Amino acid sequence: MTSLTAYLSEIVGRAFAACGLPAELGRTQVSDRPDLGQFQCNGALAAAKIARKPPRAVAEAVVDALRAEEAFAGIAIAGPGFVNLTLTDGFLGAHIAAMAGDARLGVPARPDPLTVILDFGGPNVAKPMHVGHLRATIIGDSLQRLYRFLGDRTISDVHLGDWGLPMGMLITEIRNRRPDLPYFDEAYAGPYPDDAPVTLEDLEELYPVAAAACRDDPARLEEARAATAALQAHRPGYWALWRHFIRVSLAALDRDFGTLGVRFDLFKGEADVNDLIPAMIAHLTAKDLARRDEGALVVPVAEADDKQEIPPLILEKSDGGVMYGTTDLATIVDRVQSFDPDLVLYVVDQRQHLHFEQVFRAARKAGLSGKARLEHIGFGTMNGLDGRPFKTRAGGVMKLQDLIGAATDQAEARLTEAGLASDYPAEERADVARMVGIAAVKFADLSNWRMSNYIFDLDRFMRFEGRTGPYLQYAAVRIKSLLRKAADQGAEPGAILPPSDIERDLMLELARLPDAVAAAEAKRAPSELADFAYGAAQAFSRFYASCHILSEADRGVQASQLALSALTLRTLVQVLDLLGIEVPERM
Ligand code: ARG
Repeated sequence: MTSLTAYLSEIVGRAFAACGLPAELGRTQVSDRPDLGQFQCNGALAAAKIARKPPRAVAEAVVDALRAEEAFAGIAIAGPGFVNLTLTDGFLGAHIAAMAGDARLGVPARPDPLTVILDFGGPNVAKPMHVGHLRATIIGDSLQRLYRFLGDRTISDVHLGDWGLPMGMLITEIRNRRPDLPYFDEAYAGPYPDDAPVTLEDLEELYPVAAAACRDDPARLEEARAATAALQAHRPGYWALWRHFIRVSLAALDRDFGTLGVRFDLFKGEADVNDLIPAMIAHLTAKDLARRDEGALVVPVAEADDKQEIPPLILEKSDGGVMYGTTDLATIVDRVQSFDPDLVLYVVDQRQHLHFEQVFRAARKAGLSGKARLEHIGFGTMNGLDGRPFKTRAGGVMKLQDLIGAATDQAEARLTEAGLASDYPAEERADVARMVGIAAVKFADLSNWRMSNYIFDLDRFMRFEGRTGPYLQYAAVRIKSLLRKAADQGAEPGAILPPSDIERDLMLELARLPDAVAAAEAKRAPSELADFAYGAAQAFSRFYASCHILSEADRGVQASQLALSALTLRTLVQVLDLLGIEVPERM
């Protein structure tokens, strides 16, 4: 099914064509001035040049050609030549009835689906996943849900940070503390123990100590570098030890992502492409794209019209170690070989923008990216109430697990305050608190344009009124409860009638869903969906306040209003699902 705006654009486009003008000028959108009309087309202004007529004269000709259309109750020209359109209630009602009958709520599925790889999350081995990775996870997951809903084949990859110097730091720190372990005995022929010699807590304690030691002591840093190179060259003991780091870290990540309701198709890491690196480097060298610079192997990527200096991408340091950019480049090779994607989205902090610009340029120059369009989907920082990057009260990085715990506790307190879920079995109540806590955190993040910084303020995120996740959940739950009460008194949703003044705005709001989805895709911006959900919930709340559905005497009107309520519920549940937010059965 087509969206209202697509349908109107087509009708108005035909009117432009009838006037000998390009049909694209008929693009029609929701009006910025609802007092003048529900929809508007500004094409006459652009057409004036081509037509060599004043825009108003063009608008008049287009309007004349539209007179025969039955969809419109009002057609008017405003200002220099804006065409304002208002639909008949019959047309609007029929469109909403069609949306209600459509499994996709009027959102067209992509006729030729794309293969989309989403690289997000990006936590690092041995470091707790912190709030910096939270935004990547929340935004990335929402985009993954959006592309899947559009009908594309999506492949999400967590791209674990499991390679490079931090691994060498850990290995040497453990070696210094426990030189007796078999991993460090070069004469040992294996097999190595199945049980990890370290827990996640150990790793979290070891890493900062090791990093600080390497910062202070050049000899210690050299040791870590050498261990990294040995690991990358597959020294068996180091390799076995490193496998334990991965296993231990993945178990914790699995738990964190699970609580957030985020799933990945691939749990690959930087290390997975290690074996592709030599051939890739040979290819780049053969194509004369890589050259030696003070011992390091680099790919110059600067272009003539750069406004800012873009330094070369470093492939290999003088000691032979590979870099973050090298593994990212080899990961492109791997992804193109395995999936031949149309699009690869990297949902990573905007502060890494230069890195991705270098990697993408190198990939394109070397012809490594196949048909894929590579895009960095950056985002701003999450700040504390003091306006600085978010820290715990003690000044440390907040672990994701602790943050989720805090959100759930706060949700629990809010439920009590609001007198919600009070008489539920403990298990159900805990589940509601979990859903509300996570909704608060996710919605607060996704409702901002991703590039903006925002302030982490659980108190505000958790309110049941205003632009919050809990408000939207509550709005949906209220509709569920309305439908249950109606069913109890034998009233069921029925045919959707043309709107009266009470229903019209809600219908127009719901009809915008396909536009919101399209805008979210075009800008890679879940905030478009969040805005839409909030607008729809508010429109429903105004509608609900001005009618008395349960006591409506006209059964036809009642059935239609129930059907409109049910459609609003489905729409909210669908959009919240695209944001990764669950709706409880009741609360
Ligand atoms: N592990 C990285 C970090 O913590 C993020 C990885 C992002 N993805 C990528 N393909 N580079 O900063």
